[in-house]
Amino acid sequence: MKAMTLIGRKVPLQLQQRDDLTPAEGQVVIKLKAAALNRRDYWITVGLYPGIKPPVVLGSDGAGIVSACGAGVDPGWEGQEVILNPGISWGGNPTVQSEGFHILGLPADGTFASEVVVPAEQLHRKPAGLTWEESAALPLAGVTAYRALFTQGNAAAGERILITGIGGGVATFALQFAVALGAEVWVTSSSPSKIERAMSLGAKGGFDYREDGWQKKHASQAGAPDLIIDGAGGPAYCSLLELVAPGGRIINYGATAGAPEKIDMFKVFWKQLQLRGSTMGSPDDFSDMLRFVEKHHLKPVIDAVHALEKTNQAIEQMRSSPQFGKYVLQIS
Ligand SMILES: NC(=O)c1ccc[n+]([C@@H]2O[C@H](COP(=O)([O-])OP(=O)(O)OC[C@H]3O[C@@H](n4cnc5c(N)ncnc54)[C@H](OP(=O)(O)O)[C@@H]3O)[C@@H](O)[C@H]2O)c1
Repeated sequence: MKAMTLIGRKVPLQLQQRDDLTPAEGQVVIKLKAAALNRRDYWITVGLYPGIKPPVVLGSDGAGIVSACGAGVDPGWEGQEVILNPGISWGGNPTVQSEGFHILGLPADGTFASEVVVPAEQLHRKPAGLTWEESAALPLAGVTAYRALFTQGNAAAGERILITGIGGGVATFALQFAVALGAEVWVTSSSPSKIERAMSLGAKGGFDYREDGWQKKHASQAGAPDLIIDGAGGPAYCSLLELVAPGGRIINYGATAGAPEKIDMFKVFWKQLQLRGSTMGSPDDFSDMLRFVEKHHLKPVIDAVHALEKTNQAIEQMRSSPQFGKYVLQIS
C-alpha cells in the first residue's frame, strides 16, 4: 500500500510504500477511493497540535470499499461501499467524549493512504447519491457542523443564524444544514466572492470580518442573530457577545484566530447568553448527520480535488485559506 506519512515535526509528508494491512479482531480494512483534508492536518504538519508522534499516516476522512474483515466482524461488510466516522471511542455519554476518544489520523494511522484499518463500528454505508469525493468530504466537518448547530446549538427553523468564516469546511456544512432547516442564515468571510458563493447556497448575505465595525453593519442590516456558530475565536469573539440577541447562543468549535482577549462577563450574564463549546460528535450525531444529508439531498461543497501524491501541496494551500469548502484527495 502507499501512504503519505508524517515522519518528523514540521517536515512535508513522505510518500511511502508499506506492507498491506490485515485486520485484527473487531477491525476492518478499507481500500480507499478518496480522502479529505481538515485544518487539523495543517495544524499537525506545522507542529501546532497536541500529541504529535511520528511516524503516522495523517488523514481523518475517507471513503472506500471494505476489503477484509477481522474476527468477530459481520462478513457481510466485505465489498460494501463505506465512509468512516473518524471519532473513535466516544464512549457512552452523549454530552461529552470519553478520555479515550481519539481522531483517526493521529495517533492511529489515517486515510492519506490506499488502505486504512479501523474498528468495524466506525463504518457507515456510503450515502446514497454522493460521489466518492463527496462522501470523503463529509465525515469530520459534517459531524462537527451537525453537533454545533443541532445538538449544542438547538437550531430551529426561522431563527436568525450567523456562521463565521464561511470558506471553512465546517462552516460550509453548517450553512447547508441551517438553510435546509429553514433558518435565516448570515455569514462572515474575508472574501466578497465567498460571501457570494454562500448566498448562492441560500445565505441571506454576509459581512467582511476584516472590516472594522462589521458587527454594527450586521446589527443594522440583518438584526441580531439568535445563534452564532463560530470556528474562529480570536479577538473578534468578544464582539460576538455584543452582536448576539439577548438570550442568544454562541457555539464555538474552533479557534483559528486564537484566544479572545477578554470576555465581558457583564454581557454574558445580563444578556442571559449561552456560550457552549462543541467537538466533533457522538455516534448518534454522526448517524443523525448522515440521515439529514440524505433527507435533504445535500452535496458537500468541494473546492478542489488533488491526487494523493499531491497532499503536501494541498496542505500548503490551506495556510492562507483560499478555499471554499473541502479539499479532497483522489486515491484510486
Ligand atoms: N472542535 C472540533 O471538533 C473541530 C472540528 C473541525 C475543525 N475544528 C477547528 O475549527 C476551525 C475551522 O476548521 P475547518 O476544518 O473548517 O477549517 P478550514 O476549512 O481550514 O477553514 C478555515 C476558515 O477559517 C476562516 N477564518 C480564518 N480566520 C478567521 C477569522 N479571524 N474570523 C473568522 N473566520 C476566520 C476562513 O474563512 P474565510 O475564508 O471565509 O475568510 C477560513 O476559510 C479550525 O480551527 C479547526 O481546527 C474543530
